[in-house]
Amino acid sequence: MRLGPYELSSNLFLSPLAGYTNLPMRETLREIGGLGWATTDLVNARSLLERNATALKLVATSPADRPLAIQLFGSVAEEMRDAAAMCESMGAQSIDINMGCPVRKVVKIGGGSAMMTELDKTAALVREMISAVKIPVTAKMRLGWDDDNLTAPDLARVLEGVGVAAIFVHGRTRAQGFSGRVNLAGIRSVVGAVRNIPVIGNGDVTTPEAAKHMLDETGCTGVSIGRGAFYDPWIFRRTDHYLRTGELTPEPGFTERVRVLRRHFDRYVAFYGEEHGARLFRKVAPWYAKRFGPAKSFKRRIITISSRADFEAALAEYLAWRAPFCDERGELRPKFQPAPMVASFMAEDDGGAGRSSIPVPKGPVEVW
Ligand SMILES: Cc1cc2nc3c(=O)[nH]c(=O)nc-3n(C[C@H](O)[C@H](O)[C@H](O)COP(=O)(O)O)c2cc1C
Repeated sequence: MRLGPYELSSNLFLSPLAGYTNLPMRETLREIGGLGWATTDLVNARSLLERNATALKLVATSPADRPLAIQLFGSVAEEMRDAAAMCESMGAQSIDINMGCPVRKVVKIGGGSAMMTELDKTAALVREMISAVKIPVTAKMRLGWDDDNLTAPDLARVLEGVGVAAIFVHGRTRAQGFSGRVNLAGIRSVVGAVRNIPVIGNGDVTTPEAAKHMLDETGCTGVSIGRGAFYDPWIFRRTDHYLRTGELTPEPGFTERVRVLRRHFDRYVAFYGEEHGARLFRKVAPWYAKRFGPAKSFKRRIITISSRADFEAALAEYLAWRAPFCDERGELRPKFQPAPMVASFMAEDDGGAGRSSIPVPKGPVEVW
């Protein structure tokens, strides 16, 4: 698929996940393959202009980390424009604008993004950003505030008119938070509202089949995956293969999961320093462990690490504990293996609480 001037290697995108989709994670996922495009965590436009150290860390990138969009957040037109220009001068391929709730009442109580309440004002702000840069500008939104205010189609139509290069839409309303299932009909209505630009669907994709289902049901051009990439960093590669060939490749085995876990950890240490990196990795490793099979002791231990030695010791202890359940390749014998991931649309009767539902990581997620 194309996005603005770029021909992408796949139509699979990494959704921004504040606190997770940092350079180490993006490089790890890109190395595995199948990922066509990634976006940074949300970055405050003003903080970036002030060269705040945290903001600069969020936009840190590398030659392997391409194509990359920087996601900006803000409501002051001049700041958004100048921050967009700054991102372009730093080498970003694109700017993504985080558009929270588009309804006035959210802003009145101080939440959401004021820029979304007035279509005209938003259009003017986005127009100004677009005219300040040569790289494409995209927008990421939810379906609207609640079921009575599904404003995404209107907003998408207006933004296309202003020159936005693509729309990312998470198929839930803000009122929904992360509950229920993603609304594919809602995404389809955004696809129907724009004329030429790609719409990238997002929400609840944890398997290759779920990605295909979203593409088929909504007509979206690409699929963006967030939490599914924590569970299964191989999801982009497996999904890309499935979409191209119809063939479902097996999930990676334990040895491969541990290899990639280490790569991810090494990058954390290189990027954040040993102690800080190890501490931050406490919230990453348990996601890998979810697909290890029995791993209670590892999960308990890994959330206490403060150094590389701690990491290695936790892993070594776990490998030793696990060995009796494994075959000669180091893989769990069949009766101990975790159940395969099931796409939520294929498990209609689990009430959203079964193995197909995706937990929401800790953090200020109510604002997404
Ligand atoms: C921990 C967390 C952090 C998030 N951070 C961002 C963010 O910085 N910017 C954004 O636009 N969306 C953010 N989101 C929303 C995701 O990009 C995505 O739209 C949502 O998780 C649904 O996709 P998924 O079901 O594939 O995870 C975040 C979600 C989570 C769970």
